[in-house]
Amino acid sequence: MIILSIETTCDDTAIAIVKYSNNNFKILSNVLSSQIKEHNAFGGVVPELASRCHIQNSIPVLDKALKNSKISQKNIDYIAITNKGGGLIGSQIVGVEMAKTISFILNKNIVQVNHIRAHSLAVFMDTENNRIRDIKFPIISLTASGGHTFIVLIKDFDNFKVIGRTIDDASGEAFDKVAKMLNLGYPGGPIISKYAKKGKNIIDFPRPMINSSNFDFSFSGLKTSVLYYLRDNKNYNIENVCCSFQEAVCDILTYKTIKAVKKYKPKSLIIAGGVSANIRLKELMKERLNNIEQKICFYHPDKLLTTDNALMVNINAYFLIQNKKIDNWKNIKSNSLRSI
Ligand code: KG4
Ligand code: ZN
Repeated sequence: MIILSIETTCDDTAIAIVKYSNNNFKILSNVLSSQIKEHNAFGGVVPELASRCHIQNSIPVLDKALKNSKISQKNIDYIAITNKGGGLIGSQIVGVEMAKTISFILNKNIVQVNHIRAHSLAVFMDTENNRIRDIKFPIISLTASGGHTFIVLIKDFDNFKVIGRTIDDASGEAFDKVAKMLNLGYPGGPIISKYAKKGKNIIDFPRPMINSSNFDFSFSGLKTSVLYYLRDNKNYNIENVCCSFQEAVCDILTYKTIKAVKKYKPKSLIIAGGVSANIRLKELMKERLNNIEQKICFYHPDKLLTTDNALMVNINAYFLIQNKKIDNWKNIKSNSLRSI
């Protein structure tokens, strides 16, 4: 089975073509055109600019993906598109329209994928061995990205239950906003973690909602307290600010996730989304997992599968096809609701 997948939810135009046979897969092509340069000057993604860039990039990315795959278009069995789970509506529409057009021309069905679910399921792709990982359900997933932060209980490939979510900013968004305050550019996560490596965790930033009885998060107050710190300490040490801020985010994320692990007793724990690329987050999660009695397997996605990409959409589509969740292009409507 060969799936062509498209991801245009935010600021990446990405297309992948993957061939599956049972638990093995071969990535025939994986092309991604990033808009980081275009948005960098604004310290975050500008929605209208993102839509315009997708219009410009979509066909060249498709052309390259098809050429790199070295297969004939008629061998493609399904078109997968991110059309659920939220995103920038203008960006998403470009991808959905492209998916419908390809589906119409090739006369192949469409698989509609939820962006947030795809982030979590990306971890099933072992790109080193070209195998689908045997990860046991139920799974707790911390899905932390620029647009969302959720703790989800996954009982099956198609059974997701949100047990915690951010009530304001997403954790990746907090990284991006703090980076903007420090004039470090966009995206904030990688650059803050680079500075954090050389810094000390000596500024006592707050951990909002860490002791709340539920599994929800709040990052807006933390971001404001960094703003006030910078205002009141003109000679601040940028490395220490980055390190202390990163520590606060990782502390909150891991604390709440471990609390969910203790309550729901899953067989596996995964972290997903752009923030899951953070080395300190992985380190602290492992450390805290080692300190609890429950023994569960911990997974994080391969590096190329952490931030937005078309491979995660592809593998999610593969699982959905097993459950016969396929559609004709005539039934596809754009859906930008932020839901899982
Ligand atoms: O998954 P993604 O590409 O897009 C969304 O679906 O939102 O995630 C992008 C987010 C950005 O906010 C970026 O700052 C954050 O992931 N990020 C990181 C790291 N790498 C990317 N955050 C913390 N540490 C990182 N190493
Ligand atoms: Zn994403």
